[in-house]
Amino acid sequence: MALRCPIVSVLGHVDHGKTSLLDKIRKTRVAAREAGGITQHIGASEIPIDVIKKVCGNLLQMLKADLTIPGLLVIDTPGHEAFTSLRKRGGALADIAILVVDINEGFKPQTIEAVNILRQYKTPFVVAANKIDLIPGWNSKEGPFVLNFNEQNQHPNALTEFEIRLYENIIKPLNEMGFNADLFTRVEDITKTVCIIPVSAKTGEGIPDLLMMIAGLAQKFLEQNLKLDVEGYAKGTVLEVKEEKGLGKTIDAIIYDGIARRGDYVVVGGPNGIVVSKIKALLKPKPLDEMRDPRDKFKPVNEVVAAAGVKIAAPNLENVIAGSPLRIVPEDKIEEAKEEIMKE
Ligand code: GTP
Ligand code: NA
Ligand code: MG
Repeated sequence: MALRCPIVSVLGHVDHGKTSLLDKIRKTRVAAREAGGITQHIGASEIPIDVIKKVCGNLLQMLKADLTIPGLLVIDTPGHEAFTSLRKRGGALADIAILVVDINEGFKPQTIEAVNILRQYKTPFVVAANKIDLIPGWNSKEGPFVLNFNEQNQHPNALTEFEIRLYENIIKPLNEMGFNADLFTRVEDITKTVCIIPVSAKTGEGIPDLLMMIAGLAQKFLEQNLKLDVEGYAKGTVLEVKEEKGLGKTIDAIIYDGIARRGDYVVVGGPNGIVVSKIKALLKPKPLDEMRDPRDKFKPVNEVVAAAGVKIAAPNLENVIAGSPLRIVPEDKIEEAKEEIMKE
């Protein structure tokens, strides 16, 4: 049986740097191309395990665990107050999460909203304390935070500023919401204390540390949840319905469980009743490409194993809407899939 790729949702207040952090990890430029600099849709991208291992390097020894996960499927969500339903959808999909907080601004309304969503779904999370390059006197540079932190000794004021912002803007508000939290290097049990990883999406500082902690949390989650085995037919959720040249209306979806096969049927819920359609093509974005703004063309595949982003080409998708549940099944399972969807 194959191991399911864990889903990591990225949540936080508007402009605290969610998309920029993912851009830094993926070496993409999605944030810069967004209208008004605002994320308006849920995004998805796959980070292969080789990339995680390469970026983390020696840091992985801190985990004291082997990484057996195939990679991570990262879900980017909008932080603007108008998009509560999208944040909830992203939160509901998550196995684990990254809460992004601007360390200089601290907790804001949508930070609190995000924590409440994570609490509701009992989703383990880490905090990416972003924009540490803006701490007065901080000498930020690309690479592990653990190394750069030790070099700040020449800047005692910067260290003091850092500790004040870390405590006042992140640890204290988390404590007030009922969570233990601390700088990740000071945490002994990551299942009891929320780890805070200082990062800069601008300089790249702390990215290795963040990926290391996320991989560690995902691995821990995997040990505690056998549901990470991929089993059965594909279950997913519609992100967007898009017109594509030569393909007509297509569905961009996240498959969060099971296996989808070309030639199967897509069964989608919706306000106008259930739509059933025979799949013409399953298309996958390249690893490290953001689904909603890919660098490369999507590639046709015969099979998609969860968790993954996928574009589904099939006839009669005009009435499908974003947020709907979907199943991908062979012909003799269509009725079963319809019943499942009606219960959702
Ligand atoms: P929404 O998705 O719209 O909620 O925003 P977001 O959280 O994805 O933030 P985004 O990546 O759009 O970044 C917002 C702004 O902050 C942009 O101008 C970024 O360049 C800037 N920014 C992000 N991270 C950093 C950082 O670490 N340091 C500095 N100095 N600026 C940053
Ligand atoms: Na933004
Ligand atoms: Mg964004």
